[in-house]
Amino acid sequence: MTGKIGIGIIGCGTIADVYMTNITQHYENVELLAVADLLAAKAAEAAEKYGVPKACTVEELLQVPGIEIVLDLTIPAAHYSVNKQILEAGKHVYCEKPLALNLAEAEELIALAAEKNLMCVSAPDTFLGAGIQQSRAVIDSGAIGKPVSFTANMTCAGHELWHPNPGFYYRQGGGPMFDMGPYYMTALIYLLGPVKKVSCFTAAGRPVRNILGTMTETEVPTIYTGIMEFACGAIGTVTMSFDTWKSSLPCIEIYGTKGSLSVPDPNGFNGPVKVFDGTKLQGIVDAVEEPHPARLIAMVTNQGNCESEAVMEFPENPEPRSNMRALGVSDMAQALIDGRESRMSGPISLHVVEALNAFEESAKSGQCYEMKTTCAATEPMGKDWELWEVK
Ligand SMILES: NC(=O)c1ccc[n+]([C@@H]2O[C@H](COP(=O)([O-])OP(=O)(O)OC[C@H]3O[C@@H](n4cnc5c(N)ncnc54)[C@H](O)[C@@H]3O)[C@@H](O)[C@H]2O)c1
Repeated sequence: MTGKIGIGIIGCGTIADVYMTNITQHYENVELLAVADLLAAKAAEAAEKYGVPKACTVEELLQVPGIEIVLDLTIPAAHYSVNKQILEAGKHVYCEKPLALNLAEAEELIALAAEKNLMCVSAPDTFLGAGIQQSRAVIDSGAIGKPVSFTANMTCAGHELWHPNPGFYYRQGGGPMFDMGPYYMTALIYLLGPVKKVSCFTAAGRPVRNILGTMTETEVPTIYTGIMEFACGAIGTVTMSFDTWKSSLPCIEIYGTKGSLSVPDPNGFNGPVKVFDGTKLQGIVDAVEEPHPARLIAMVTNQGNCESEAVMEFPENPEPRSNMRALGVSDMAQALIDGRESRMSGPISLHVVEALNAFEESAKSGQCYEMKTTCAATEPMGKDWELWEVK
């Protein structure tokens, strides 16, 4: 690492706090030079709290000398227009998820970025954390063999339970697929490669929700149940729900020819990675000359010694759920310093937007959706984890 890259933030709402904390305290290759918000008071408050030199309008922020990367932390419905404005001002974009609401808008942004030789990517950066990195290392090591199938599940009762301004979660661009799907799609794409086909059904369990005291009709489905096929051949089920009071479904499990992998929550940066070695059972099963169902069932049920935890912790001695948001921004800054592409690439962000829309399109048309875009694999983090300074 040499030097610092100037950063500007547009959107000083709920998630901006953790970005500003981490950028000003934990990532030493970035420097926050200005903040803007539609509501001037929010920008002023953030600048005061984090010691940022300038609070201003979006237009003024895009003129601040030294800002090379602009973070778009506005609501999803504003992402396309704000990202376009940032690119037109000649700055790199790091946007909260999703990059845009539909494929056409995301493609336009990626094309504009390419024309201007700028990076344009979206969150999440949780896949750069220890949980998903370790899961990828397990797959790459061959420990579970060839991934054949998976399940991915996000279930909760809805964000109006905790968010101070939850209306956008129930309008276009919200809903569990557009809000939480990016974590799962990004992790699955990082672990399994590009998506080939998607089928989906949707429903709305509680289509009228209490939004800040007003019973409000939702514009979007609040439960998605889909099936995906990846280009590598793996198939799996996906559930994204704001309609589930309680569930014991795993976040992500990947089932391979030799074993199973339990992947930690892709909306976090770490967590236990569990590997089940099926080859031990395969050996037992293959050695049985005259299968006796009761004996086999007993052996298969007694699986304790096949399981191991491959826990990789970053940073060292982390809080159990340390929130390292802005790791992707720091990686983008390092990419500028080192003259490489950022790990979260434009094509991956675009592929994720198409995948999110694929669930929607399939549910509306009753047909299986075939993906048009694809993306290349991302380099693992390796020593770049040192970007995070423990203070
Ligand atoms: N809240 C979370 O826990 C969380 C977690 C991860 C990601 N995100 C993502 O972060 C983004 C923001 O979410 P949030 O919860 O912080 O929302 P929020 O409503 O709390 O904050 C959004 C801020 O953006 C400002 N804004 C909106 N449109 C703008 C525009 N055109 N120009 C300038 N400012 C504008 C608003 O005034 C507001 O201050 C979303 O994409 C969301 O998906 C949120």
